[in-house]
Amino acid sequence: MANSAPTLQFNAIAHPAPVPGETRVEALRNPGFGTLFTDHMVTVDYTEGRGWHDATIGPRQPIPLDPAAAVLHYAQEIFEGMKAYRGPDGGLTLFRPEENAARFNRSAARMAMPELPEDLFLSAVRELIAADRDWFPEVEGGSLYLRPFMFASEAFLGVRPAREYKFVVIASPAGNYFKSGAPAVSIWVSRDYARAAPGGTGAAKCGGNYAASLVPQAEAIERGHDQVVFLDAAEHKWIEELGGMNLFFVMEDGSVVTPPLTGTILPGITRDSLITLLKDEGLRLREEKYSIDQWREDANSGRLVECFACGTAAVITAVGKVAGHDGEFTIGSGAAGQLTQKLRRTLTGIQRGEIADPHGWVTRLD
Ligand code: PLP
Ligand code: COI
Repeated sequence: MANSAPTLQFNAIAHPAPVPGETRVEALRNPGFGTLFTDHMVTVDYTEGRGWHDATIGPRQPIPLDPAAAVLHYAQEIFEGMKAYRGPDGGLTLFRPEENAARFNRSAARMAMPELPEDLFLSAVRELIAADRDWFPEVEGGSLYLRPFMFASEAFLGVRPAREYKFVVIASPAGNYFKSGAPAVSIWVSRDYARAAPGGTGAAKCGGNYAASLVPQAEAIERGHDQVVFLDAAEHKWIEELGGMNLFFVMEDGSVVTPPLTGTILPGITRDSLITLLKDEGLRLREEKYSIDQWREDANSGRLVECFACGTAAVITAVGKVAGHDGEFTIGSGAAGQLTQKLRRTLTGIQRGEIADPHGWVTRLD
């Protein structure tokens, strides 16, 4: 089994010219999301027959790629999104990183890519955090967003699984995912596009899923909304998820509904954690199909009192307004509801090591 292979030793290459301290500190004052990057990166290569080799932690730099590299033609690529946090005592934490490692391998299997030993995934992440530990933003809600990814690097134009791959981890200091830092976002219901079909790659975290979401997401933005929500591809009726977040619906009677994992949505680690936290609260949680018509009806009747989206990048964000080709509706007061706010406090408190971690989700790094 690949997971029992010994962990590779990382070859450390000193950075000849890291970003000067003053420039870094200035950049970290307003990190935003996804535009600022740290000094280092990890790379590990895979060759069929040889397995994973040449693990390196070194300066972040462009990756040489043959123009025939399979990823550029057939999109054999997967990624993960996870965050490292600095707690009030200065200690660094990761939240359920083994779940990211496991999901990475599930995505790899779906995309006919090689398994990456989980301990190699985790040690790569640790190496990068250690090298870039000065890159944690001090801003409210700040974290170091980690982006492990793998792509087919073999130069070959035939359509078959590649025989060479590269695993890379980069890091990006992060503040709020939504530019406005909005307390509640507005969602556009896509009528003309689906994100994933039964039997497709919806449950894998592969780049192609996100490419497919860009036109409907642009449509949402053009119409003045923050995000697009996708309906199922078969009946165009059931709510699936946003382009990068899962959804939860909070009812007046205290019960909570979230769409089930049927293979077309991403099994979010935040989603899974919130299901546990809701059960801890004694709330009735149903993983159940929920239709767009029911959503509108429940919002209008007041049966639905809160709705929120969740994911690593977006944390927990209230959905205030929903709009589609046939009109729009508001959820509750249109602002973040009580349960949404409470869950956000609990989740971020656990992630940062500020409150008790009854489920053993947090890995302390030093
Ligand atoms: N759904 C999609 C399509 C995503 O890209 C993400 C983000 O990773 C999520 C849901 C939430 O997953 P997680 O909570 O593991 O970040
Ligand atoms: C994440 O939440 O980590 C993701 O990968 C979502 C992405 C769309 C930013």
